[in-house]
Amino acid sequence: MCGIVAYSGTKSATPILLNGLRKLEYRGYDSAGIAIHSDNTIHIYKEEGKVANLIDSIGDYENDAVHQQCHVGIAHTRWATHGPPTKENAHPHGAGFEEPGGSRIALVHNGIIENYRALKSRLEAEGKVFLSDTDSEVLSHLIEFYYTDDLAKAISTALKEVQGTFGIACIAKDQPDMLVVARRGSPIVIGLGEDQTIVASDASAIISHTRQAVYLDDNDVAIIRGGKIDIKTLDAKPVQRDTADIDWSEGAAEKGGYEHYMLKEIFEQPTAIRNSIRGRIDLDRGTSVLAGLGLDSREIVDLQRLLIVGCGTSMNAGLVGEYAIEDFAGMLSEVEQAAEFRYRNPIVGSKDIVLAISQSGETADTLAAVREAQEKGALVAGLVNVVGSTIARETGRGIYLHAGPEISVASTKAFTCQVSVLLLIALKFARSRRLSREQGIKIAEEINSLPELVERVLEQNDAIAKIAEDFVKFDNMFYIGRGYLFPVALEGALKIKEISYIHAEAYHAAELKHGPIALLEESMPVVALLNAGPGMEKTLGNVEECRARKSPVLGVISEGDEDARAACDWVIEVPQSSQFIATVTSTVALQLFSYHVARLRGCPIDQPRNLAKSVTVE
Ligand code: F6R
Repeated sequence: MCGIVAYSGTKSATPILLNGLRKLEYRGYDSAGIAIHSDNTIHIYKEEGKVANLIDSIGDYENDAVHQQCHVGIAHTRWATHGPPTKENAHPHGAGFEEPGGSRIALVHNGIIENYRALKSRLEAEGKVFLSDTDSEVLSHLIEFYYTDDLAKAISTALKEVQGTFGIACIAKDQPDMLVVARRGSPIVIGLGEDQTIVASDASAIISHTRQAVYLDDNDVAIIRGGKIDIKTLDAKPVQRDTADIDWSEGAAEKGGYEHYMLKEIFEQPTAIRNSIRGRIDLDRGTSVLAGLGLDSREIVDLQRLLIVGCGTSMNAGLVGEYAIEDFAGMLSEVEQAAEFRYRNPIVGSKDIVLAISQSGETADTLAAVREAQEKGALVAGLVNVVGSTIARETGRGIYLHAGPEISVASTKAFTCQVSVLLLIALKFARSRRLSREQGIKIAEEINSLPELVERVLEQNDAIAKIAEDFVKFDNMFYIGRGYLFPVALEGALKIKEISYIHAEAYHAAELKHGPIALLEESMPVVALLNAGPGMEKTLGNVEECRARKSPVLGVISEGDEDARAACDWVIEVPQSSQFIATVTSTVALQLFSYHVARLRGCPIDQPRNLAKSVTVE
């Protein structure tokens, strides 16, 4: 949700900033801008729309002296919160332009300034002129208001008055080599170079320059000059932050010949799942090895409940986890939307473990739920993909997904890796409680076979694309499933609506009769999750009810199941397996289905309207 890039070093800043913005565009793409320091002036360029528009409007920066001589700069790609996506509301925001010679400072900001109205009134009374509707511009004026000759001090003073969240990067006209960055609740990664530093809101914008990075903690302020970095607290106390290695390859964050990141990430799933489960399955003992949880068998036996919190796709994965924990381990488990958990005063205690699931590790609602659970004395763990992200660091214990960077806004490989690891957690808890070694081995072997089963689903890409052709014309769809396959219906409906803009609703198959059935007709197709297993016969009955009302049905069925095939208008076959494994294979089939429907409808698949990767506002 919004991306920041900033640079201080010996090279020309403009191409580095623009390349960084391209890498971060998945985080927000309604407007973009850069501010560079050159010729004793801050030059600000911004444009509505994609980064490509900004690049066009800047023109031939490679041969322009202003750009050749700029060695410090900041950049931003925006996902609008306060004010529409216009050029005026795009970042960077200048301040101090009331006096001759242009802005005294320029700022880019991720996050939300909650008390911006009060601050704005105060600054307007001081004569400050506002050019945008944004909360971020208020912060730039506030910093400029306090700025005499010490930029870091002015930033710290201003930030102490701010309520809300921020990741910021700021430059000043009279500090030609200095860049100051700070964070509270919105990530800032500082990429280290010999005589240069590249800052970004996430690692994908810096990995082409360096693998060595420092992650700022909340309320850190870093003063950067070329390769020199001083980190202080808001109270100006010097602090040391550890250097981390970023292990994502540059290629992992590129499209690699695929038309869209989403397709690439769908096809990466066998490898991603392999990486998620590697070294974590003990086939001999029929259990899993999850050292990051920091729990021995005695402690697991003492736990009463596993509460899972997350949002969107991560929450859907959590539901599969809930079913598996209860099914394998006979342990109480509940999933809750993270914002709901946070605001409804949940009952949690020391016998509960709360598992926060988040691909990005930055989702504001999930982070707030983590803090609430910690406040209430629960044990809190994270299931996170992005190493060094806020949720990973604040939970302290947990399991990394190792799925590699997920760039497409629509989450795919994160879901299947989350489910794979949740099955491992369920197996571990089950073996500590009631599952025999033999039963454990059987489940462990099935989890181990996931990458290969997913490969077999991917082989059907062309057949699924063909089926998708028949769905382009529809405006509404239902998805139904029961048991383990109910979360798959939820995830399938979420995927198709976010990328193809077809309105889709998921229902527990049994729920259809309690109201939604009124909508069934020829123009309302139903996607039914029909993998063999408990409840499948009943869902087949629901399919009959749909077809009796003329709704065409696409079934996701187990390979070779002729009864299920006969009940549907179209089928996608996935390998025969237990239903908990079919949660992954069927989801992969529905990801491909959504992808092709969206492609055929001409939708901007990697950057759907109104969305952005990583929702860092509540
Ligand atoms: C859907 C999607 C979102 C995210 C949700 C949580 O495709 O990507 O629903 O799953 O915003 O994000 P994370 O997992 O980063 O916390």
